[in-house]
Parts: sequence; C-alpha cells; structure tokens
Amino acid sequence: MRILFLGDVVGRTGRDAVGAALPRLRAALRADLVVVNAENASHGFGLAPEMARALFEAGADAITLGNHAFDQREALVFIERQPRLIRPANYPPGTPGRGANLIEAENGAKVLVVNMMGRVFMDALDDPFARIDHELTACPLGLVCDAAIVDFHAEATSEKQAFGHYIDGRVSLSVGTHTHVPTADARILSGGTGFITEVGMTGDYESVIGMDKEEPIRRFIRKLPSSRFEPAMGAATLCGVAVETGADGLARKIAPVRIGGRLAPTEPDFWK
Ligand SMILES: [Fe+2]
Ligand SMILES: [Fe+2]
Repeated sequence: MRILFLGDVVGRTGRDAVGAALPRLRAALRADLVVVNAENASHGFGLAPEMARALFEAGADAITLGNHAFDQREALVFIERQPRLIRPANYPPGTPGRGANLIEAENGAKVLVVNMMGRVFMDALDDPFARIDHELTACPLGLVCDAAIVDFHAEATSEKQAFGHYIDGRVSLSVGTHTHVPTADARILSGGTGFITEVGMTGDYESVIGMDKEEPIRRFIRKLPSSRFEPAMGAATLCGVAVETGADGLARKIAPVRIGGRLAPTEPDFWK
C-alpha cells in the first residue's frame, strides 16, 4: 500500500498549501492513507477544531500532534471526540485523547498510527522507547495491523535515529517531526522500516522554523521579548515523505515530497 506523511503544518500558509496540493497529490500518488502533523496549524500553536476538519476534508486520514497539542484549549475536548486525531502517546496517564489508533485506509487496510515525543531538549515525558514497545506489542504488524506509522516528534537527531533503529522491522515508517527542517536521509533501514530523521514543516521557509524571522532574531540578540511569535505568511513548501509497503507491511520504496515555496521541489517518480 501507499502512504503519504506530511510534516508540521504551520499557520494559514501551511494550511493553504495542504488544501491546494493534497487532493491532487493524493490522487497522483494513488495514496491509500495520508497522515498530517498539524501541531502548529493554528497560527503556529496547536490545532483548532475547524482546522482539523479542513485538513480531513483536504484528504488527511489521520492527524498527529506534538508538544503544541493542547495550545488551543478546545483541543482538550475535541480530541476526545475525534478518534483520527492522535497526540503523543507518552503523555502522563489521564491526558485527554489517544496516543495511537487503528485507522482504516482507502483500500480497507488497517493502519496503526502512533505519535510519540522525544525527551532530549524536550519536556520530561514517559520513556518513548518503553511506550512504543507497549503500543507495538498491543498491535503487531502483520497480525493486527497491515501497516504501522510512528511520528516521532523530537528535537535531537540522535534520539530520532536511535528510535528509528529501535523499531526497525516492527513498523512501516518511522518519521521525525518537530524541528521543521527536512533532512536528506529518507531511506529503508536494514530491518525494512522506512525512515527519515526529519520530514520538515509545511510552512514558509523564509522564516525561523516557520515563524516570522524578525522577533526570533531580536530574541537572539537581546534577551527581552519585544513581541509575540507570529507565523511567517509567505508561500509554504509542502514537505512530506511517501512510502510504499509490501505484503509484510514493511517499506519497499521511500521518497521525500516537497512542493511549492522556497525549497527545491521533489515528488516521487516511482508511482507514476
Ligand atoms: Fe512543529
Ligand atoms: Fe513540536
């Protein structure tokens, strides 16, 4: 089956890029399942319910989150009612919502989607390595699910790579999010898991990780905040990764996707 994952959608320009490109892209790639990380969709911080609805309408089957999961307070209620909205699994017990779910793909396949947060230079959450063992034991690839996608939302490339290797052979795709700048290392690991350290944001790259660049620069120079962070509003680059899995649910092909904005475009040619 064919899976498309899009990285952190930042603000209106990121949402517009998904709305403009995803319907065509989904058809062109004949994707069976699309997962979108949308933790920054609402003006850079969190995800408002109407924006989640728009992303589902544009072609997302599931939405993952991250450290900004609950920046919009409505998400605390909304997430309980929307099973296709998935927040990091290693939040403390009692956190609203779910950290993993089985999502039905267009071809009828059952796909496990997990969101997990790293702990290096991040909030001290539960151990993501122990937590992913728990999730994958509950839903083994090839037995309970036909494919499995883990969005590992983390700061450090070392932790992202260690995590990918740790689940190699047990999931179809281990994709890094959160740092908002794509890495050039999409590949299939030795055990058969598709991997990219960081998929990149869907936002305006004439920015500091999606935010209008003036205030971040000021804060590096003078330590006093002088205004709020605002998302950059220029044309977004849609960033993602496309994976094709075999009968065993492991990756056969993987390629990055970049469309529009300031980054060099690339689309997988292996499905055309
Ligand atoms: Fe993000
Ligand atoms: Fe994040």
